[in-house]
Formats: sequence, structure tokens, C-alpha cells
Amino acid sequence: MKSFNVKSFNARNFNEPSEPMVEPAATTAPVTQPLPVEERVPAPSEALAAEGIPSRFCCFVTGTDTEIGKTLVSSAILHKLVGRGLRACGMKPVAAGAELVDGELHNEDADMLAASGNVHLPPNITTPYLLREPAAPHIAASLEGVTIDPVPIIAAYAEILAASDAVVVEGVGGFRVPFNDDFDSADLAAQLNLPVILVVGMRLGCISHALLSVEAIVARGLVLAGWVANTADPDMRFFDENIAALEARIPAPLLGIVPRLEEATAAHAARFIDLAGLPGWPSTRVL
Ligand SMILES: Nc1ncnc2c1ncn2[C@@H]1O[C@H](COP(=O)(O)OP(=O)(O)OP(=O)(O)O)[C@@H](O)[C@H]1O
Ligand SMILES: [Mg+2]
Repeated sequence: MKSFNVKSFNARNFNEPSEPMVEPAATTAPVTQPLPVEERVPAPSEALAAEGIPSRFCCFVTGTDTEIGKTLVSSAILHKLVGRGLRACGMKPVAAGAELVDGELHNEDADMLAASGNVHLPPNITTPYLLREPAAPHIAASLEGVTIDPVPIIAAYAEILAASDAVVVEGVGGFRVPFNDDFDSADLAAQLNLPVILVVGMRLGCISHALLSVEAIVARGLVLAGWVANTADPDMRFFDENIAALEARIPAPLLGIVPRLEEATAAHAARFIDLAGLPGWPSTRVL
């Protein structure tokens, strides 16, 4: 696996940034000397609070499986960010399954994320790998003679970050979906170094899927910011008991339980998700 890391791109995400976003005042003091208190570079949170700028909120949304509500939850998060006056952009780095509409390839997930955010960038930025075949991405890519590589994805992510206050990256399928022989979706999450939100598709079997996903996320040194229970099977028996079992075992907060919605829109789902406790979440409306 090629190793790239975009820690610096996420300087204002909620993993407590290490770089200040404001340039320190020019000083003639030797760099090895500690700065006097009055010339101390403010911590990013102080500087941003002083400027009235919210800290950056970025996350990687993964799930226990395919078709369990990652796009719905990602869109709901974008909807909430937009409601708080932020410039919020969704990214679906790899999408398999696209149709020609008016001469342009479209993917449902990418379209829903674009409709839920308010930063409009060219589709090749928000989805660098848009593949036609609705299949496992490495298979869909090979059908087109394409190799999915981290470099264009990370470059595109940096462009999105430059244009946005908040970025929501939706993964593909479950947490470990192969992109090529030595690069998968978990590697991408690690290279982007984003806090992860796990969507658990509530249906029989989800507990093991969720716990395995949590293990894989934590094993990569990623922050599991929280998880969302989404009702994949409206007839699931012992729903509350399953939630309790997951809550007892997942070392991160439950951010919401999304019921089966009559209309699965970002706005409806957003009513059931509460991200207020997450570090970096904008506490007040910006506009
Ligand atoms: N809580 C819900 N209520 C009603 N419909 C839902 C709910 N959650 C998901 N759906 C529907 O289930 C389908 C799959 O959801 P979604 O596209 O969000 O899954 P996904 O995990 O993003 O799938 P993929 O792996 O293809 O990216 C969609 O048609 C969506 O509208
Ligand atoms: Mg999706």
C-alpha cells in the first residue's frame, strides 16, 4: 500500500489539530527559543473562536454493510451542517454503479450527498472514481481498465477541504472493501485520518458486524467518533435489546436511532441524529 497521510489537511478537524490555522506573527527570536507569553501563537481553537470561525468538522462514514444507510446518515449530517450555516461538502471517493443522464454519468449516492451539501464542486472532485458497474469496486474498476489509487482521492479531498468548513466522506459498503490488490477502504480512512462514524444497519447479525468493524477501526488508530443505529429491517425482533447490546460493547457514543422512515430524506433522518456532543461540532449557527 502506498503511504500518504493528510493529517495536515485536517488541521481543524475534531482530532485536536496540531497546526495553528493562523500564521504566527513574524518574530526575530531564534526558532529554538520558546516564544514569550505575549507572542505565544494561540491554540487553534482559541484563534478560531476569537475570529468567530467554527472549528472544522470532518468525518468518514462507514457502515456494517452495503445498503444499510450510510448515504442517508451522511446526507443527514450534511443537512445539519448546512443548517448551522457552514459550507458543507460530501465526498463519495469511490462509487460503483452509474447511469448516463443527459450525457453525464450519475451515481445516486454522489447525487444525494451533493444535494444535501452546499459546496458545489465538479463531480470528478467529489467522486474521483465513478464506475459504471454496480459491483465490488475492484471488479467494476477492472472492467474499465482503471486502477483505484489513493493519490487522486487524497488530492481531491484536499481541494474539497480548501473550499469547505466541513466535509463528510462516505465509504463504500462495509469497512474493508478492496479497491485494488493492496489498497482498501479502511486504508483510505486511515490515510485521510478522519474520525469515523459507524452506521449500524439494525437487522439480525448486526452485532457481530458492528463489533468487527469497531475492532478494525480502532486497530488502525482511528478515532471512532460515534455510531448511528439505522433501522435496516423494520421488522427486527428485540430491537431495544440489540441496541443495548451494542451500546454496552461499542466504546463510542450512540449518536441516534433512525427509525424506518416513510420518506428517507436527509432532513427527516437528521431529526434523529444528535452530533452536539462531538468535539468540533459547531455549537451555534454561523450565519
Ligand atoms: N431509516 C430508513 N428508512 C427508510 N429507508 C431507508 C432507511 N435507511 C436506508 N433506507 C433506504 O435504504 C436504501 C439504502 O440506503 P443507503 O443508500 O443510505 O445505504 P448505503 O449504506 O449508503 O448503501 P451503499 O453501500 O450502496 O452506499 C436507500 O434506498 C435508502 O433510502
Ligand atoms: Mg451509499
